[in-house]
This record gives sequence, structure tokens and C-alpha cells, in this order.
Amino acid sequence: MAAESEIFVHQFELGPWDNFIYFLGDKATRKCAVVDPAWDADFILDEAKRLDVEITNILCTHSHFDHVNRVDAILEKRDVPVHMLGEEIDFSGFRCENLERQSPGDVVRIGDHLELTMVHTPGHTPGSTTYRMRGAVVTGDTLFIQGCGRCDFIGGDPEVMYQTLKSLTESLPSETRMYPGHNYGPVTVSTLDEELKENPYLQHATLDAFVSHRMEGKTPGTKLPPPPT
Ligand SMILES: [Fe+2]
Repeated sequence: MAAESEIFVHQFELGPWDNFIYFLGDKATRKCAVVDPAWDADFILDEAKRLDVEITNILCTHSHFDHVNRVDAILEKRDVPVHMLGEEIDFSGFRCENLERQSPGDVVRIGDHLELTMVHTPGHTPGSTTYRMRGAVVTGDTLFIQGCGRCDFIGGDPEVMYQTLKSLTESLPSETRMYPGHNYGPVTVSTLDEELKENPYLQHATLDAFVSHRMEGKTPGTKLPPPPT
């Protein structure tokens, strides 16, 4: 993996559901991946132009509408591969041009220096993915700042989420920066160490305690809210 000084993370927020979109890139070549392009393709493309970076890959953390709803629109302008875990493709039936069916542990290379490892982090959906790079993770709807993804939507599983959060926080250095899929917290970037201290969902010593907290007031098998019109 590259030194942290050779890579960049650019975070911006779009849409009515407070989604974060990311450019993860290589400073030397100015190539980058866009993570979860949603809501406004023109803004995303203009932002790349403003920053003088080239989008070379599309990375999906999962298949929910608010994370993939401008994949096709970006593909109309940029002929680039789209990466999603096979588990998520099978669960959702998601299809698009250039879709690459990936496996857990696969590495996506951007430019000369950036390597992104696809870590399978199921619980919010069966094929949810966290992208790991040196010093940082992009967690999609798996882990939020002082929150975690809902497990009551179709395909969600709070018992699986408990194990996912446990292995994610135990397997990475505590100083790892954490970039979430939504702007739901008091700040926009955190670290695993801060989350281990502050995130109420990471305070549970038992599976049962986590499941009852995560599912409180929720009904398993809930449909995702309809997209805004
Ligand atoms: Fe989601």
C-alpha cells in the first residue's frame, strides 16, 4: 500500500438522505474512484473537473437506491468499471454496464499508489462492502459516526451485523480513520478508536444486547423507503 501522503480522500454530501460521496485517489496520476455515486451526476462530474481528477472506477458499498442511483448516469459520461461484491449482486439483482462481480478481499488499484481492499461487511445488506485503504476505511451503511446501519430492511441481519462490527473494529488499527456513507453524526470523519469510545452500538458486550438495541421499534423485512419524487 501507498504512504498516506500519496493518496487523497475527498468527501462531499448530496441528496435528501444526507449521503456522502467520496473520491478516493492517487495524487501522482490524479486518478480516482468515486464511491456510491448518487443523486446528482452533473455535480459529481463537475466536482471531478473542479479538482482536476479523473474518475477511473465506480465503487459500490451496497445496492440501495440512495447509493447507486446515478451509476448509470456516470457511465453515460465515463466508460469505467463498476465494482460490487457478488453477494450484493445476487441479493439485489443490481445490473449495469461494466459491472464487475467481485469477491471479498479483492483489491482495486487506482493510479500508481492507491490500493483499495473490498472487505465483506454484511448486516445492513448481505453483500455490504467496506473499502479499506492505508489508514482509512469507507464504511458505507455498515458503520456511521455514533451509529450503524439499519438491520431491519430486507436482507438485513442484526446478528450478522454484530459479528461484522466486532471483526471490523478488532482487525483494524484503532487510529484508522472512518468515513461513513451518511452524514448522520456530530462530525463528518471519525476514527475507530473514537467510535469504540463514543458509538452506542459498539458498547454492547453481548449479541443479544446489540440485537435488541438495533432492532428496537423496528420490524424485520421492512422495505426501503420509496425514492423521493
Ligand atoms: Fe443502505
